[in-house]
Parts: sequence; structure tokens; C-alpha cells
Amino acid sequence: MTISTSHGKLQDLLATMRASASAAGAVGAVGAASTIKPVLKVPLPAMVSNTPFLPLKTSKEVLLHKLMGMVETRFGIYSSQQVEKKLSRIFQHTGMEEVKDWVRLMEGAPSDDSEWLSLVEGLTVHETYFYRDRPLMDMLSKDIFPRMIRNKVRRGQSSIHIWSAGCSSGEEAYNISMLLLQCLLLEGEATLDAAGLIRPHPRWQITVLGTDVSRQILRVARDGVYSDFGMGSFRSMPENDMTYFEACAASPEGLQGGQHYRVKSFIAKYVSFAQHNLLSGKAPQQGSDLILCRNVMIYFEEKTKRLVQDMFHRSIASDATLVLGGTDVLYSPERFQRQQGSGGAWYIKH
Ligand SMILES: C[S@@+](CC[C@H](N)C(=O)[O-])C[C@H]1O[C@@H](n2cnc3c(N)ncnc32)[C@H](O)[C@@H]1O
Repeated sequence: MTISTSHGKLQDLLATMRASASAAGAVGAVGAASTIKPVLKVPLPAMVSNTPFLPLKTSKEVLLHKLMGMVETRFGIYSSQQVEKKLSRIFQHTGMEEVKDWVRLMEGAPSDDSEWLSLVEGLTVHETYFYRDRPLMDMLSKDIFPRMIRNKVRRGQSSIHIWSAGCSSGEEAYNISMLLLQCLLLEGEATLDAAGLIRPHPRWQITVLGTDVSRQILRVARDGVYSDFGMGSFRSMPENDMTYFEACAASPEGLQGGQHYRVKSFIAKYVSFAQHNLLSGKAPQQGSDLILCRNVMIYFEEKTKRLVQDMFHRSIASDATLVLGGTDVLYSPERFQRQQGSGGAWYIKH
């Protein structure tokens, strides 16, 4: 369903959002700002005279506060100064009556309505890069994947399904695919051909699913093209692993500066992406062998983190692994067996 407001305003709001987000340097590798011009007309004087006891600014702030509350309930993004600033920027040229109409419509719309998803685009933080938190990524190679592969082999199983939850522009999901293939090779479950491509033995069925609430950032993820510009996607990349990329032209979806590299297809072929809201209550897949959710719940309140972790627990296979970000707390620790690795804690479902 798509809400149509009498002003047809969302495209305009989005244009403003993108402009304000890029002005604040908050959105990473997203496309160019929209050229759609705001068309909202703001009947300010009439509104001021209608609300003599409440200055216009305050009334609008109250509405935005209400909207922020809805954003938190539906997407987990809670009101912080940064988020409130973004919201105020988005609506700075919108009249109060129009904001009021819009908030009312949004209240009645489901969270997967495109208007909601568009608003969330302007409020999310997409910072990510390959080998983010290197000790934790090393722990995947040294501890988590060897254990997973050996257990699968011992049980005669040959499928590995991984979920990167809140994957942003996809670096984490491709990174997982790279590390898993390297481990399969070390465990004798894959071969390395003359061109340097790792080929798992044919019986292995591998999927790495990256999900994010932002449709816009997932376009960058699906492209799999990254730039080395400034503090780009490769800032922590070990030199040797550049062999998993090939130089290419810039993608219209991503950052424009610097040299661009595409993830080679023998890594990318196991990776797919889907839009998913962690607060939807449903996992995008059941029976994951590993869920990795890092630097996502830092934006959530405790009750929201608990709901998301409940969903992880319900959807993960038994004996599967959960990896959270370095600062995340695991609630209900009795449901998992805690492992302490060199890169932090990881959890095995009982
Ligand atoms: C800072 S990035 C983290 C990316 C990656 N996991 C990492 O550690 O580098 C956080 C991502 O979480 C996503 N996100 C925020 N709220 C979400 C929600 N309710 N459901 C799914 N994804 C969400 C954002 O869109 C953003 O791309």
C-alpha cells in the first residue's frame, strides 16, 4: 500500500531528506540527491494566528516528537539529538497542517508502507566497511567457522546458512562469504584453482543473506561495487584479500570518488540481499547456522533489543551461533552457551 497525501509530498520530503543527510555526512554510499523540488506551500501566518497559546515551532516539535515515537516503536530507532535534528531538517519547510495530516496518515499505515520506509531512509546510519572490528572477524576464521564446518562434516550435513542482519551496503555479508570460503579451503572442503578462485566441494550449499531496513542502501549492496576513496570500504582490508576484487567503473548507486572494485563472482554468488525490518517480529529465514548483528542494536532501546534477540533465538538452528557487536549485551544468556574468543564473546544456542 502507498499513502497518497493530498499534497503528494513524500518525494519532496525525500529530496530534502537526502540533501540534509548528505549535508550532515550521515549517509554513506548512497546515490545522488534527488532533483525533485519541494512543492509544499506553507501557510504560516494563518496557523500562527490559530494557535495563540502555542508557538508554531513548538506545535511542530510536538508533532515531530509523536512521529519520532512511532519511528521508535516500528523500527527501533530511538530519539536522539542527531535523529531529531535530521527529522527537523526534513520537515523544516513543511507547514504544520501538512505535517499534521501526514503524521495522521502515517499512524494508520503499516510499517512496510513505502512512506514509512522512505522516512526511515533519512534516519538510519549506514557506516560500514570490510573487516570492521578485525579481532571479531578473525574470530570467525579461527573459531566459529572451523567449529561449524567440522560439526557439519561429522554429522554428514552440507548446508550452511548465514544471516547478516542490518548489513547496510553489504560489506559484512561479502566479508563473511570470503572468510567462509577460506575456511572451507583450510578444512579440505574446497579447492583453489589456478586463477585463485576457491571452489567448495559441490555438495556444499551455502547462503549468506544480508538484510537491512533501508531499500536504498541495499541497492549498493546488490551492486557489490566499492570505492577506496577516503575512509572507504577497504580501510581495514588486508592487502592479500584485494585478490577477491576486480577493478571496475563506479556504480551509479555508490560513492563516486576514488578507484572502484567489484566483489568477484565466486564470492558474490553465495550472497543475496533482502529488505527486512528487525522489528517485524519475523525472521527472513529459519534455521540460520550463524546470525551476525553488529552495530545495529546500538540504536535500539533495551526492550527493543530484547524483542530482536528473542526473534534471533526463535529463528536460529540449535547449536548455531549468534555474534553481536562488541558493545551489545546478550539478554536471556541462559538460552545460549557463551564462548569467549580472542575477538570477544560469541554464543551457541542450546
Ligand atoms: C551502522 S550500520 C551497521 C552495518 C554492519 N552491520 C556493520 O557492523 O558494519 C546499521 C544498519 O542497521 C540498519 N537498521 C537500522 N534499524 C533497522 C531495523 N529496524 N531493521 C533492519 N535494519 C536496521 C540501518 O539501515 C543500517 O544500515
